[in-house]
Amino acid sequence: MDQLSEFKSRLYNYQSILKFCYVGDAGAAAWNKMRGDKSFQVGSREISVLERLLIVAMDLSKNSPINVLHIGPGNGIEVPHILKYLNATRGDQYNAIDISESMLSDLKLKMNDSFNACNIKYSTHLLDVERDVDLIKFAANCPTNYKNVYIATGEGTLLASGVVPVNLRKVMRPGDLALFNLDSIGTDSEKICAEYDQSSFREFITGSLRYAKNIGLIKDLAGKFHPTEYDHKTSRVSCRYYLEEIKSDVLLLETLKPNSLEKAEMFFKQLGHQVAYATQYDNAAFGIVCK
Ligand SMILES: C[S@@+](CC[C@H](N)C(=O)[O-])C[C@H]1O[C@@H](n2cnc3c(N)ncnc32)[C@H](O)[C@@H]1O
Repeated sequence: MDQLSEFKSRLYNYQSILKFCYVGDAGAAAWNKMRGDKSFQVGSREISVLERLLIVAMDLSKNSPINVLHIGPGNGIEVPHILKYLNATRGDQYNAIDISESMLSDLKLKMNDSFNACNIKYSTHLLDVERDVDLIKFAANCPTNYKNVYIATGEGTLLASGVVPVNLRKVMRPGDLALFNLDSIGTDSEKICAEYDQSSFREFITGSLRYAKNIGLIKDLAGKFHPTEYDHKTSRVSCRYYLEEIKSDVLLLETLKPNSLEKAEMFFKQLGHQVAYATQYDNAAFGIVCK
């Protein structure tokens, strides 16, 4: 299925269209604006967890050279944290994989100097990790003495459908690791839902509809938000929008936010991963290392 057909099918079949917020010329700018909004804390909590996961990954890799495959690096906010653990003498490498061309060019612009300063070889790959399994394999095709370390982080976007962890499972070689982190709903789901109802976040997630309009899929964005909801059974937050043009709700966002480490671990186990390490940070974020 090409991207347009996939978008159409998601729009009309009530599946999350969040990933289309990032594509298109305005994708990176919209994300950067949202990521810089300090009142929107969801997503910022996870960076502290990432460092713990990297320490564990370095330990499990037992001094083999590392090939990092950073899935959805966004504006590169996590890159300095990752670089701290990479070793140029050992031959470590970094690859950014993202669905968004504008995000990748932004990243290159910002990060070039950091990579050159520490002499780490890096490359970028434009691909949709939900669709292009062969291309992920291609990006991960380093010499067999290397360990691939996949990093998929940042606010559940990549985890909502389960397809990304399943695809990573398909391409992982023995000894490879996958690092995931995700936000917790904590104890107060109403407070988290209220964060999603802020205007700056709503402006960001309607980006997928603006993109749909730009590519001629819809003509008019008129409609109305429903309040954000949390489903305790599925551990998912969802933002729905009534789109007048199609006289139906569309799912602008659906994101996984478990309320316990057990549930977070179970999600990955059910998708075929073996959990090597699991941690919780400050009742706010979870980190999982899969092998
Ligand atoms: C929520 S942002 C997180 C960015 C960054 N990791 C952070 O914490 O700030 C999600 C990132 O994943 C990318 N992305 C979303 N869906 C994707 C997909 N299916 N394949 C590849 N990249 C994807 C987006 O373009 C974006 O850069």
